[in-house]
Amino acid sequence: MTDTPLTPLLEVENLSVRYPVWGGVLRHKVGEVRAVDGVSFTVHRGETLGLVGESGCGKTTAAKAIVNILKDTVPGVVEEGRILFHHADGSVVDLLELRRSDMKRFRAEIQMIFQDPFSSLNPRMTVQEIVERPLKVHTSKTADERRDEVAGLLDKVGLQPEYMQRYPHEFSGGQRQRIGIARALAVRPQLIVADEPVSALDVSVQSQVVNLMMDLQDEFDLTYVFVAHDLSVVYHISDRIAVMYLGDLVEIGDAETVYHQPAHPYTRALLSAVPHPQPDRTRPERIALTGEIPSPLNKPGGCSFHPRCPQAQPSCSESVPDLLPMSPGQLAACPVTDAVKKEATAAELPAE
Ligand SMILES: Nc1ncnc2c1ncn2[C@@H]1O[C@H](COP(=O)(O)OP(=O)(O)OP(=O)(O)O)[C@@H](O)[C@H]1O
Ligand SMILES: [Mg+2]
Repeated sequence: MTDTPLTPLLEVENLSVRYPVWGGVLRHKVGEVRAVDGVSFTVHRGETLGLVGESGCGKTTAAKAIVNILKDTVPGVVEEGRILFHHADGSVVDLLELRRSDMKRFRAEIQMIFQDPFSSLNPRMTVQEIVERPLKVHTSKTADERRDEVAGLLDKVGLQPEYMQRYPHEFSGGQRQRIGIARALAVRPQLIVADEPVSALDVSVQSQVVNLMMDLQDEFDLTYVFVAHDLSVVYHISDRIAVMYLGDLVEIGDAETVYHQPAHPYTRALLSAVPHPQPDRTRPERIALTGEIPSPLNKPGGCSFHPRCPQAQPSCSESVPDLLPMSPGQLAACPVTDAVKKEATAAELPAE
């Protein structure tokens, strides 16, 4: 990321997504999954926001809400809040308010890369057809222009343009993900939401794809929301990291701070799960995560992490905690950590 002043590209305001649960012979609604539960964050132009958390915490749901594909794909889904997209011409649009036809213009600005490079590419289309498709939809380029464009894009993502007539099954997982990246890049988006783009790849290939994405970010002035299970994957690519737990945003801050001085006990637990090649004495005390992650169908009251939290107090089950400032550029939704911090600061102050 450059040193230019921070300007917001995307503002997610109090986003909630609830999936209906259908039951009975007549398939009526019997409940709701609160997959994302009042989440707010800003993504600045040119930055990478890492979004992490355990399986089921709502990362993919948040990602799909941002690219606004839930309404069209999940019957009965309820989305609340605002997703404000700051267009290059200065106008601001709430993506959630847009009708399908009005969303078309923004589909080119906001692209998504999917976790599974095996199922996200149509097996019956050649690489050329796959990468060219968004160009057909969003531009008026001729067939020859599109072909040249596809060749150029394949080269940019490290694939030989001669492979254009091949089918996805002829490529490795890493190469397929490169095809997915080329497809996303084709329409020159401002924002790419990458949902676990390297999780399905061999470890040896993961860093190559992450490095490619970082190079492309510089070349094409991209902004990324980069989703991953664990912090070690997003640490290198992210400027800031947001941590989700059971649909809640529990911590957000500069990548360095969140990684080295996590404030929320859940973030600390998540970091404990990360194998560390070089044990680092500056890392805070490790916390082992015990117990099953509760179901978002039946979220615990108060802080949703309290049943698994080693520092939980009786008050933690009473009200949903707000995000509190923990250090410059770092917010965490934990009043207990906040109180401990304040006590420590008070103890450091000279007595009157
Ligand atoms: N279409 C759907 N209908 C009902 N519930 C759903 C649907 N999609 C997701 N969910 C539920 O919503 C919650 C959040 O799911 P989501 O896929 O967003 O989590 P995630 O953090 O991406 O998980 P993972 O790390 O496994 O990809 C989960 O409890 C999931 O079972
Ligand atoms: Mg997911």
